[in-house]
Amino acid sequence: MIKHATIEKNSILLTVLTLIVVSIGGLVEIAPLFYLESTIEKVEGMRPYTPLELAGRKVYIREGCYNCHSQMIRPMRDEVERYGHYSLAAESMYDHPFQWGSKRTGPDLARVGGRYSDDWHVAHMIDPRALVPESVMPGYPFLAETPLDFSLIEAELKANRTVGVPYDDVMIENAAADLKAQVDPDGEGVDEMLARYPKAQVRDFDSNPSMISELDAMIAYLQILGTLVDFEAYQADENLR
Ligand code: HEC
Repeated sequence: MIKHATIEKNSILLTVLTLIVVSIGGLVEIAPLFYLESTIEKVEGMRPYTPLELAGRKVYIREGCYNCHSQMIRPMRDEVERYGHYSLAAESMYDHPFQWGSKRTGPDLARVGGRYSDDWHVAHMIDPRALVPESVMPGYPFLAETPLDFSLIEAELKANRTVGVPYDDVMIENAAADLKAQVDPDGEGVDEMLARYPKAQVRDFDSNPSMISELDAMIAYLQILGTLVDFEAYQADENLR
């Protein structure tokens, strides 16, 4: 048995032994991950974003909304009571990059979809203090006035496919058409779009039919957040077994 003092006085021996101990700890944590088929639970309802939602997500990232908002409900009672079911890994499996965030100046947005009307979002995005007088969120009135540039939407779907999002060729070919269909309920191609993207919400999100604005895309994105997984059908215990 080596006396502890010997180890402490011999820096090389200390380094070697430290490495051995740390490696064992590392192996215990990392090795099981290689034997698991997936660390993402199986859920019903997840699908890739529609082109319009994807475009809205891009505006969300561009504007840095993640600096003040998380999209990750932790499995703690206060969070679950306030925001709803804790976030599942599956819910961000098509997010590249994920929007978990690390700061909550504002509330978590992982389940904000359906919580407010489109009109609420329009008014809130233009001037948050019009609805929440004490809000410190900046206004983004320009989103309503800026036409959405979706000239690269096909390429964006392709880029997402490269990193594993299951967009097929038909989805990529029809990206621009699907984007337009989602804001035009009476237009053509709505049914095809819905067949490709179940549960997509189709309407003129910012109530301005004269153009597809960045605000249309942003609200389409916010309104889908947290609404895809069917929690009636999801049993956490089953997945843990
Ligand atoms: C400086 C921090 C800050 C930034 C940046 C910010 N927000 Fe907020 N946000 C807040 C705060 C604080 C609230 C709570 C008060 C309110 O509703 O305005 C909030 C509330 C919200 C709500 C309502 C959430 C709820 O459950 O009531 C939404 C939706 C929202 N923000 C979206 C966005 C989007 C989209 C962006 C980016 C375009 C953004 N925010 C940028 C601070 C911020």
